[in-house]
Amino acid sequence: MTSNVTTSTDVVSATHCVPPGTREYIDRTIQDLLASLPDPQQLSPVGRRGIIARYTAVLEGNFVYWMTSAYLSVKSWEAHQIIDDNLREEVRDNHPGMLRRFAMAAHAVPTDTDIMAVHGHVHEVRKFIGRLRSESILPMMAFFEGFIQRFMPYLADLAVRQGSSELEYTEVHGVVDVGHTEELYRALNAEVLLAHGPLDKMRMLEGVEILRKVLEVVIHHSNTEKLETVVASTNR
Ligand SMILES: [Fe+2]
Repeated sequence: MTSNVTTSTDVVSATHCVPPGTREYIDRTIQDLLASLPDPQQLSPVGRRGIIARYTAVLEGNFVYWMTSAYLSVKSWEAHQIIDDNLREEVRDNHPGMLRRFAMAAHAVPTDTDIMAVHGHVHEVRKFIGRLRSESILPMMAFFEGFIQRFMPYLADLAVRQGSSELEYTEVHGVVDVGHTEELYRALNAEVLLAHGPLDKMRMLEGVEILRKVLEVVIHHSNTEKLETVVASTNR
């Protein structure tokens, strides 16, 4: 543990709290994304593959990286412990490998087209987390965990329709991320106690908005296939 770690009990004037409505805003953003999901029955195999592939392109190499930025950004002992547990589980149980197996079995390993579809918005997240502000990274990661957990039945449905029976990733994350989300809110509360001055709600939700755009592209990037056609015809 680094020397700048402080326990919340060290703070005499612990008067700050998470602004009212923060969690409700995050829950509503998750609900809006889920409500916008296309009906799996209406999706073509290419459309189903695209959602799985773009999800994998975002999560496989970035989840642990972004959670690590949360670890580096927090100052409270409680938040360090909570994120330490989360990271250990990711690494120990090889969650990126689990996701790779899931994508392979659904014939949805990301191609350069899938990676390019999410590239711009993923880059925005990288710039955002580089500022290492715990009060806005933790809401983003709570949003991420909350979305992932509730997205799993849909993702599993797409994979099964792709002929896959490799569902360890969706089964594990449909369960463990409930607890992860709660713990991240607990970490946020611990961090807020250490804040200097009042916290601005919109600033705290900045990362949620940036990540929301990534997830919208994962779900709705219907131009991917058109782009593929354009690239193919240009190369002819
Ligand atoms: Fe995970």
